[in-house]
Amino acid sequence: KYGLQTKLLGKRVVHFNVTTSTNIVARQMAEEGVEEGTVIVAETQTRGKGRLGRKFITKGGGVWMSVILKPNIDPMHASSITLMAAVSVTKALRGMGLEAVIKWPNDVFVNGKKICGILTEMSAETDIVNFIILGIGVNVNNDIPLETATTMKAELGKEVSRVRFIQALLEELEEDYLTFKEKGFTPILWNWRRFSDTLGRPVEVSCQDEKIRGVAQDVDEDGSLIVKLTDGTVKKIVSGDCRHLKN
Ligand code: BTN
Repeated sequence: KYGLQTKLLGKRVVHFNVTTSTNIVARQMAEEGVEEGTVIVAETQTRGKGRLGRKFITKGGGVWMSVILKPNIDPMHASSITLMAAVSVTKALRGMGLEAVIKWPNDVFVNGKKICGILTEMSAETDIVNFIILGIGVNVNNDIPLETATTMKAELGKEVSRVRFIQALLEELEEDYLTFKEKGFTPILWNWRRFSDTLGRPVEVSCQDEKIRGVAQDVDEDGSLIVKLTDGTVKKIVSGDCRHLKN
């Protein structure tokens, strides 16, 4: 099979050598009414954005892209899209021979090191989403310090075709997105659980000023992490930073 096998995602691809952040550009284009499925890719970003207001380093050789989606969903359910993307990225990486797993909520790891980060942003009214910007950054052939993060090149021992990887990723994303629209979040969540490295583990989750330690039990239908504390109480964490602790 040759070429991109998608109907919706990547029908239009906008490529930059350098931009501020593909999420910023995608938002502008979405506000101007560009069609669903439009993909923005950049070789490098000067203001790559990470989760929780952090900076994200995006030098040449990686895949830095944003996809514009317009699902007819309640803003309350938008985090489903973020978890869905982690599933799609994991499938695309596994398709290339890497043992990828998901750390809650949506970091993808290989051999204990982060290989992909996902940042979704949305524009919504009270009860309907106008659009979602799905930003995905994957370390492919870029050079980074390999202490806590890794790249496809480092794990596979050879350079990877970024075009082929983007193609595989868009195909997985489209499949999962169509499933999500047809059947809802349940089948996606099932795969998320299957790929998750967090469930069943002792974790420390930082959210706001609180640090919660316990065992990660499950994710629920809105993507929240359910943690059981040592005293037996169960906490539901909507968003935060999760650290896996030693067993
Ligand atoms: C994280 O792990 O904190 C999320 C990182 C998301 C990075 C990607 S790179 C493409 C897109 N544009 C951005 O500015 N951020 C996302």
